[in-house]
Amino acid sequence: MQLKRIISSRWTKLPVFVLCLAPLFLLGWQGINGNLGANPIEFVTHFTGDWTLLFLVITLTVTPLRKLLRLPEMVRFRRMLGLFAFFYACLHFSIYIGLDQVLDFRGVWADVMKRPYITMGFTGFVLMIPLAVTSTAAMVRRLGFRRWQMLHRLIYVSAVAGVIHFYWLVKSDVHLPLIYAAIMAVLLGWRVFAWFSDRGRKPARGTPARKEPTTVAAS
Ligand code: HEM
Repeated sequence: MQLKRIISSRWTKLPVFVLCLAPLFLLGWQGINGNLGANPIEFVTHFTGDWTLLFLVITLTVTPLRKLLRLPEMVRFRRMLGLFAFFYACLHFSIYIGLDQVLDFRGVWADVMKRPYITMGFTGFVLMIPLAVTSTAAMVRRLGFRRWQMLHRLIYVSAVAGVIHFYWLVKSDVHLPLIYAAIMAVLLGWRVFAWFSDRGRKPARGTPARKEPTTVAAS
């Protein structure tokens, strides 16, 4: 199958990597051409926030998609996508701290404590840190696959926090946050369904446990 061959090729990772950087190039291009709107700080904050959430959702769709399409090779991209979600979250957070709050760390902390949508965004961001730190194959070995897998389920909590953060910050049109909420509900629902059907198909005693995946990332 052609798609299978493309996905398995060792050359595919590079174009995917460049594609993941495309939003950053686009932002730079718009900046150079003075197309960041009347309030560039707000524009950049929103732009990076949007891409953080999108990458979280894209990362979470890898597992259902690879199972539905019977393309286990897709797992090769999961770690990269998850790390790009973290990368855009770091940009988003840095822009908020550096440009919006002008490095007033007390002000940032007061905001985190006082404004529920900031508390939620901050929670989502903090939860991504252990996932990024433990995203290497060496860390999977160190933690043991089961423990690592449990830890990486935090990506769901982080994504849900991101959606709530978005929902709480929009003032009038809640269409987009609600679309994200619906996508998250489907992804979580699929996970729960897959978990129950896996339990139903538990191997008989003495059968070796399922093999670990060959690559790592938030699942
Ligand atoms: C998982 C982490 C996060 C995700 C997924 C996320 C996502 C988003 C999204 C989607 C938006 C709105 C974009 C739009 O309206 O087009 C946004 C805006 C914003 N986010 Fe985040 N965010 C996260 C973390 C944070 C953190 C840690 C902070 C700061 C502590 C933060 C501060 C803000 C601010 C100040 C805005 C703009 C609010 C406004 O203009 O009214 N976010 N974020």
